[in-house]
Amino acid sequence: MEANDFVYTMPIHDAPGDALGVLDLLDRVGSPATVATAGGRFFGFVNGAAFPVSVAATWIASAWDQNAALRVMSPAAAALEDVALGWVPDALGLPSECGGSVVTGASMANFTGLAAARHALLERCGWDVENDGLFGAPPLTVVVGDDVHASLSKALGLLGLGRKRVIRVPADDQGRIRVDRLPAFDDRTIVCIQAGNVNSGAFDPAAEICRRARVEGAWVHVDGAFGLWAAASPRYRHLTEGFDLADSWATDGHKWPNVGYDCGIAMVRNAAAMRAAMSISAAYFNPGELREPSNYTPEMSRRARGVELWATLRSLGRRGLAELIERTCRHARRFAEGLRAAGHEILNEVVINQVLVSFGDAAVTRAVIAKVQSEGTCWCGGTEWQGRPAMRISVSSWATTEEDVEMSLAAIRRIAEECRGLRPTD
Ligand SMILES: Cc1ncc(COP(=O)(O)O)c(C=O)c1O
Repeated sequence: MEANDFVYTMPIHDAPGDALGVLDLLDRVGSPATVATAGGRFFGFVNGAAFPVSVAATWIASAWDQNAALRVMSPAAAALEDVALGWVPDALGLPSECGGSVVTGASMANFTGLAAARHALLERCGWDVENDGLFGAPPLTVVVGDDVHASLSKALGLLGLGRKRVIRVPADDQGRIRVDRLPAFDDRTIVCIQAGNVNSGAFDPAAEICRRARVEGAWVHVDGAFGLWAAASPRYRHLTEGFDLADSWATDGHKWPNVGYDCGIAMVRNAAAMRAAMSISAAYFNPGELREPSNYTPEMSRRARGVELWATLRSLGRRGLAELIERTCRHARRFAEGLRAAGHEILNEVVINQVLVSFGDAAVTRAVIAKVQSEGTCWCGGTEWQGRPAMRISVSSWATTEEDVEMSLAAIRRIAEECRGLRPTD
């Protein structure tokens, strides 16, 4: 634990607070301490902004105060989730028979998909992992790329499969799994691949990996937190070729589709495996004929986050989604062109909405990132790419306009010019 993780050890107030006074205090103290992720010039992380329709749908759902665990607790939440979970595989070109659930984010979606994988592979060996645990279970092999996202490793840890007890396959210069370095698979192997590397945006060679996995009986899980949405655009769909051959998928509503936080989606081809991994039974819990949401999720009580997922997808439609993906990718290309033209090095192939920039040596690049963040025209994050510090520009927001991109480019170029020639101690 970090020493300062829990700094607020104040006693709770004795007297009740007046509701309006509490809200006023919240606004005065809280609002200035927020980050403008809803604006058009926030390029940090892969954070979408929430569409107004999503925010408003969340307000409605909050006013309803529904517990989306069971259909009987909220027929509306369950039905909206059913509809949205039908749209997602359609938009992403995934099998229509997929089971799905709406979870908090790609981390939990990875957890859910991998739990279904663990169930299915061990069931083949006659082992009931949900009841008997992993002690003494037939061993499973987990294969990941060297550039696996940290949240997937965390999910493996939570599932008892181990963050480190994996075969890491070397990645190429874009972070893609090298198929020539894949180990042999068998029917007790889970292979984890990515659609959209968090830094470069690159896609693993899914078609080749999935075909091999099918022949050898392995399970393929896709971490497609944002990249899977490229399938919603005719222009970028080719990047997701072969991902539909996998067995489970994790993606986010709150990233590229700009649904408000928090909203992730787990999908599993074998819906029965998903249900077996996630369902519970209790005397007071009487599942009906229809899908009970919490039979497919890690949680029981849950926020009705399917409401804003439904509202956002309903308002975008197929064309709106494609336009959002294509517009943000166009902005990313403009960033890359503008920075390259100013003599800065673009470290990745800009295949979707991610741009990695170096401004020279490590100290200058770090100084540019820090100054861009403090100057305030826009906000870009930092990362390390292939051993080099880099600025990471992620264009994920519906709100970003061409003017936002030009203003941000001008600011970054000016700051980079000011930082050029900095000595490491400056
Ligand atoms: C590739 C990838 N996987 C998983 C995650 C985790 O997603 P979440 O924060 O929604 O849990 C991210 C977050 O950026 C990501 O980029």
